[in-house]
Amino acid sequence: MEIPLKPIGIIHTPYGKYAPYQPVESDTEDFFVEVDEAYAGGLAELEKFRYIYLLYYMDRVKKPLSMTVEPPWADGREVGLFASRSPARPNPIGLSIVRLLKVEGRTIHTSGLDVLDGTPLLDIKPYIRELDSKDDANYGWLDDLDDRDHLILHIRGIPHDH
Ligand SMILES: C[S@@+](CC[C@H](N)C(=O)[O-])C[C@H]1O[C@@H](n2cnc3c(N)ncnc32)[C@H](O)[C@@H]1O
Repeated sequence: MEIPLKPIGIIHTPYGKYAPYQPVESDTEDFFVEVDEAYAGGLAELEKFRYIYLLYYMDRVKKPLSMTVEPPWADGREVGLFASRSPARPNPIGLSIVRLLKVEGRTIHTSGLDVLDGTPLLDIKPYIRELDSKDDANYGWLDDLDDRDHLILHIRGIPHDH
């Protein structure tokens, strides 16, 4: 079975070759999404939301597909691909929650993103308080690491002393 998907726009970031592992909210460079003309009408009322989900296709993944991965900064720990955020997936779909700064026509300005410039956009959804946050969410296998909080600083791109 094949599932046809088509991009609805393009994500623009300052990252040509390397991007952070997850969005860095304090990034101050220019991040914006350009939605194709055909879908511009779908942006009505979106600006009322503070946060949005962006779903996109990671079109330049070079890492070979493997069902187990060693996430960065996790002391060589091996976990299943689906217990990770590795970009090398059977369907390399990425999901980022970003702050919506401004909508201008069919351009959405956002806070920092973890994608390469030119990444094809698949979908946009509003992030809705309570509907989209779980108070009892946990850390999964990250809880087994001695250095969990330190690892999270790396993932979130927060500067810190080692
Ligand atoms: C770890 S993934 C996380 C993506 C998303 N936040 C998620 O959790 O689904 C982020 C990494 O994907 C890679 N990446 C981003 N955009 C890409 C693209 N268009 N093609 C290939 N790799 C990409 C970069 O190496 C970046 O550090």
